Amino acid sequence: MSVESQSMINVSEDLKFNLSNSRISYIFQVSAEGVLEHLFFGQRISASHGLSAGPRREFRGCTLEFQSIENYNLDDTPQEYPWYGTSDSRQPAVHIRNGEGNSTSTFLFKSHRVVQNKPELNSLPSARGLDSETLQIQLLDSVTDILLTLNYTVYEHHDVIARSTHFSNNSDHAVTILNAHSSCLDLPQGDYELLHFNGSWAREFESERMVVPKGRFTIESTRGASSNAHNPFLVLMSKGAGEQNGDVYATTLMYSGNFSLSTEKNEFESVRILAGINPFNFQWVLEPGASFSTPESLQVFSNQGLDGMSQVWHRFVKEQVSPLQFNDVARPTYLNSWEAAYFDVSHGKILELADKAKQFGVEMLVLDDGWFVGRSDDTTSLGDWFSDAEKFPEGVEETAKQVKAKGLKFGLWFEPEMVNRKSKLFVKHPEWLIQVPDRRFSTGRYQNILDLTRQEVIDYLFDRLDSFLKSGMIDYVKWDMNRVMTEVGSLALPSNRQLEVPHRYMLGLYQLLDRVTTKYPNVLFENCASGGNRFDLGMLRYMSQGWVSDMCDPVGRLAIINGASHLFPLSTLASYIGPVPNHQNGRFTSVKMRQDVGFFASARGLSLNEEDLETSREEIEAAIELYKKTAQDMVGGSFHRLKYTNNEVCWQLISSDKRRVYVGYYHILSAPNLPYRRARLIGLDVSVGYHLVSSGEVFGGDALMHLGIDLPYVDAMQHQEGRDYNNHLDKGDFASNLMVFERV
Ligand code: DGJ
Repeated sequence: MSVESQSMINVSEDLKFNLSNSRISYIFQVSAEGVLEHLFFGQRISASHGLSAGPRREFRGCTLEFQSIENYNLDDTPQEYPWYGTSDSRQPAVHIRNGEGNSTSTFLFKSHRVVQNKPELNSLPSARGLDSETLQIQLLDSVTDILLTLNYTVYEHHDVIARSTHFSNNSDHAVTILNAHSSCLDLPQGDYELLHFNGSWAREFESERMVVPKGRFTIESTRGASSNAHNPFLVLMSKGAGEQNGDVYATTLMYSGNFSLSTEKNEFESVRILAGINPFNFQWVLEPGASFSTPESLQVFSNQGLDGMSQVWHRFVKEQVSPLQFNDVARPTYLNSWEAAYFDVSHGKILELADKAKQFGVEMLVLDDGWFVGRSDDTTSLGDWFSDAEKFPEGVEETAKQVKAKGLKFGLWFEPEMVNRKSKLFVKHPEWLIQVPDRRFSTGRYQNILDLTRQEVIDYLFDRLDSFLKSGMIDYVKWDMNRVMTEVGSLALPSNRQLEVPHRYMLGLYQLLDRVTTKYPNVLFENCASGGNRFDLGMLRYMSQGWVSDMCDPVGRLAIINGASHLFPLSTLASYIGPVPNHQNGRFTSVKMRQDVGFFASARGLSLNEEDLETSREEIEAAIELYKKTAQDMVGGSFHRLKYTNNEVCWQLISSDKRRVYVGYYHILSAPNLPYRRARLIGLDVSVGYHLVSSGEVFGGDALMHLGIDLPYVDAMQHQEGRDYNNHLDKGDFASNLMVFERV
């Protein structure tokens, strides 16, 4: 019998927990033996009776029985937070080596409570808890006296369940946590497919879709950053799910370090999804009286396919994750000095670029790498965060002041976590590097990582950043990070804590980010890591936007934006129009193609030198004007993927008031005599008309949604000027068209 209330969390007398908003339900129960059994995650179910964790089947072959309970085998039981050693042979959510040296445990139900909203996670980023309720379940291993608190938050307006686990050692023995996942989701037998995002530098967010295999499949990072090799985001879906159809279960982590997300399909064909800190090369010593919190895991269910899932993530990231003060603020157009000048920056050059930026209507000048003492190339000076006196005789703050006097905003690049061994900081503090004794350093881009497990390093970096930000002259910070961890160790920690370094590093980084962004809430922070080498919700909790990739060729960037958009809203994406030939892959593309692809981001700008700017002056001025005019819609609108193939991409953005619709169509390689294609638009008002700005032609909202629009075509053989509105693409390769519709 349910205890009926208006609460989103209902607990029945027989300990069934039903977490439901008006669209989704997450339900589990305590078995007679005290095991927390998963019952359901999916479309809303109002009552929990009639649900079962599955039949307890008679003894089959060599199947084991948990604690000699007849026909109760944990291998065949969906669970909420499984442990190791007592008849479930799948990967456990928790694995602890106890004081006796063995790793068997049994975490059984102890108590529960419901709290309004969402308690903050200790020292880790977590989603906000606006309009939410949290269920806390305590599980106890009575032999070791380790107490786990499982947190489940359900939101009224978001189809997301947020989860984390808190460990407390109430015994008088130290234990070692070997594996502490944030969440486990045991889905019933089914034909599932999975989608994950992977890549490398300059080709982040490529995607792979596959049938969930038997056995384990894992995406992970062991690099000390969430990485561009695998994004901490895994999508499971019913077979054949598409953009608009199918059941989708997606998981991501609010974590930026070593993670693991895995599926395991066992002999009974149920699928276990585990998400958390990567157990590889991880241990955490939990002394008596100490506690440990896992990062937060976020789970989404949508019965409306991948687009339905993305809409849930996009709104959730904006409303519950990224800094609220910038969410609905149009981002300034900018000129970034990187591909315009690389390390060759100076007071005079920046002022010249600022003048150019101003002439082109750009709103912010960003001084990227190369401004601090001795930084003439990438071999030197990281760590020495003082202005280079030759390039900036009166300090970059003075340059910033003069740029701002021209009516522009000013942005500055930092890479706080790094040090070059050619630096004053390294000479003074060689012990401040992540390192292991007697091993040679592996370097990446000639740099090493500072040991953020040390409080004095965090304090030094805070002080250096603060010394610039307190001038009040810096409106935007690009926070870069250009190498991952090797020879992982800290000279400040004892030997039994060396495998804690990667996670302790993240705790240090989050502390630093928290201090800086709390002190300077009006500075716009952009997350960067050689592009998207650490592009995750952990970083976006502190920073409103991210440099998703160094790939600035528009063709290369199509896949990146398409992939990233599965989880990240446009409000978190930054882009710029870069030079041709493109510096990453050498391709020549038109300003139009570069502008039309760069259009789908909230932070938009240029990274062009004076010559590049002059070459296409009118087109670039027009691009900046368009970017400014549409800036508000980019942060507030809803983005949809209409089409994505190897040769064609079509995206749509509809403004939050539904008055303006932008459709970008990209055709990569031309081909003759192609079939006509249509795309059906999404989310329009069916009862009104929309006019295509370029032609004035009016289309019914219902027609655009149900019939669709004809996509422009490459018609290389028969192109006749002025044949119809804008239904031709440029002849040849790398063509694009941006259609703007306004509600009549
Ligand atoms: C890597 C970034 O991704 C680039 O945009 C640029 O900021 C360079 N670092 C500067 O060193």
